[in-house]
Amino acid sequence: MEFGDFQTPSHLADEICHCLLAEGVRPKSVVEPTCGIGGFLISAMAAFEHARKFLGIEINRAYLRVLEQKLRQADRKRVELRHADFFQLDWEDILTHLPEPILVLGNPPWVTNSVLGRIRGSNLPIKNNFQGHRGFDAITGKSNFDISEWMLIHLLDKLQHRRAVLAMLCKTAVARKVLKHIWTRDFSISDPRLYTVDAKAHFNVSAPACLLVCRAGPPAEAKACGVFSGVSIEPLANKDFSVLSKNLATTRCLIMCKFLQLHACPQKKHHK
Ligand SMILES: C[S@@+](CC[C@H](N)C(=O)[O-])C[C@H]1O[C@@H](n2cnc3c(N)ncnc32)[C@H](O)[C@@H]1O
Repeated sequence: MEFGDFQTPSHLADEICHCLLAEGVRPKSVVEPTCGIGGFLISAMAAFEHARKFLGIEINRAYLRVLEQKLRQADRKRVELRHADFFQLDWEDILTHLPEPILVLGNPPWVTNSVLGRIRGSNLPIKNNFQGHRGFDAITGKSNFDISEWMLIHLLDKLQHRRAVLAMLCKTAVARKVLKHIWTRDFSISDPRLYTVDAKAHFNVSAPACLLVCRAGPPAEAKACGVFSGVSIEPLANKDFSVLSKNLATTRCLIMCKFLQLHACPQKKHHK
């Protein structure tokens, strides 16, 4: 419970990797910051055959042992597994040593600090700040949060000036808060996209969920996010939003996400 643990089924991880491939994502390295038993790492190794390095990090040693068993001998040359706590790592240093372009892929823990409080868990950004939540306050100004929100914001902060893509499963509410944060702080993140995922079917979780995909790069003037229904392997006919929005006959549905725009610009709250 403390580790917000829902392992991603391999068919969903495969689908997501193929969707990213179809979107033109061609990483030289792939990192899974909370890799669990490695569903995403294994799918990524099959999908991104030109990637030179796959790094998996996980706090639960038993999961890493399962993953070790699943890896074939040939895979081991390209894979590094680390037993570590996300919150204790120097992400700047980790990312600096990875060949670019980097893909940060995965499914961070689905747990909030208030649940951790009830179970006396300590899986938090700065452990001794748990009572006051000062570590997180400094970033978001909030004291109740999903720990994945902190992780995603931290990673995007470190990725924004690299050649990098982040693709993470999370609650849609978390994605919305992350987007609000990166827009209000003018992160160098371009073309964010959100693909809805059926969390009930895949994880038996009754919360709206999505794959959040963000690319490092100069942000567009408009604070908007493309929203797609489902993770599909069909390539986009054209990555330009305006073309796509005229092209809704495709199986994908793209809308300019008004609710996200409003969240990003509080002063425009009452504008239509
Ligand atoms: C939602 S599960 C996803 C696992 C895997 N990424 C997948 O997609 O199947 C979250 C994972 O995060 C790990 N985790 C939780 N807190 C962590 C931390 N502080 N550092 C590293 N891993 C952590 C859990 O043990 C669990 O395996």
